[in-house]
Amino acid sequence: MSGPVTPEPLPGPAGEPPRIALKAGGRPILQVEDISLSFGGLKALDRVNLEIREGEILAIIGPNGAGKTSLLNVISGVYHPQQGRILFEGQDRTRFRPHAVANQGVARTFQNLGLFRAMTVLENLMTGRKKFIRTNFFLQAMFWGPAQKAEIEQRERVEQIIDFLGIEHIRKVPVGTLPYGMQKRVELGRALAAEPKLLLLDEPMAGMNLEEKEDISRFILDANEELGITIALIEHDMGVVMDICDRIVVLDYGSKIADGPPAEIRNHPDVIRAYLGTTDDQPPPASATGDITDRAGRAGGGPIEET
Ligand SMILES: Nc1ncnc2c1ncn2[C@@H]1O[C@H](COP(=O)(O)OP(=O)(O)OP(=O)(O)O)[C@@H](O)[C@H]1O
Ligand SMILES: [Mg+2]
Repeated sequence: MSGPVTPEPLPGPAGEPPRIALKAGGRPILQVEDISLSFGGLKALDRVNLEIREGEILAIIGPNGAGKTSLLNVISGVYHPQQGRILFEGQDRTRFRPHAVANQGVARTFQNLGLFRAMTVLENLMTGRKKFIRTNFFLQAMFWGPAQKAEIEQRERVEQIIDFLGIEHIRKVPVGTLPYGMQKRVELGRALAAEPKLLLLDEPMAGMNLEEKEDISRFILDANEELGITIALIEHDMGVVMDICDRIVVLDYGSKIADGPPAEIRNHPDVIRAYLGTTDDQPPPASATGDITDRAGRAGGGPIEET
């Protein structure tokens, strides 16, 4: 399904309007228009259209190789599409490079972590502040004076992020020595340190246990609700997706096959077909658990799965 979406209102706290109904009114902060991206003969993205609306948490899901990371790479300027355009806050910035995209207020994390392993947590988070420093902070930081003042200002913000993520105890620890789940949390912190308007997360919970997933889910929700950051995330864990996301876009073989609120997507025949590899339009068993990860695994039945 594509086109305008009318999300189902969820019951909100007494006296407050439902959360999703509020977000549905958000204007598009980012528009992806008719994007195609090929690697040689392989079409990673095939005429994809979607929008990310101000204030929402959008999930981008799909089987392995569906084009999810490619889509994030195009949005963040890592790749430039052969066709189509990308508008951010109404401005065409299809050919922007990653640093220019970042300067506009888009931050991201990577599927395979993009941290400096030998640097401490604090130092990694400071790299997230780069765009706020006019001259070369890393050279400047060797000298006292104005450079010191600039560092103190940036550091205050970073300390707030450290507090927000509850990682005070590891602030001086080299990132490479931390457990994987904690590294993912630090990477989220670095992206938050950039104070983005739009945050793109590529599998922020991959490889995490249930408790770690719950923690990251809470941080994502808080970043959205308390810091007002619009979020688009790629995630295979359908339990998490259904719990925290306002809307879901589904990719399969580079094409968008569905776009709508969680309740609609979980029963969408094309989505079930993409995951189960069947023409049977029956919804998946409600009791199924686990992650959606692999086309190869879908023939046995199981996903769409929830934890
Ligand atoms: N740099 C590249 N060069 C060549 N092919 C690529 C490149 N990046 C992605 N692809 C191909 O594009 C297709 C989409 O890949 P992509 O990484 O976007 O999928 P994905 O949905 O993120 O999958 P996963 O869930 O496994 O992370 C795949 O067939 C992949 O092999
Ligand atoms: Mg990927």
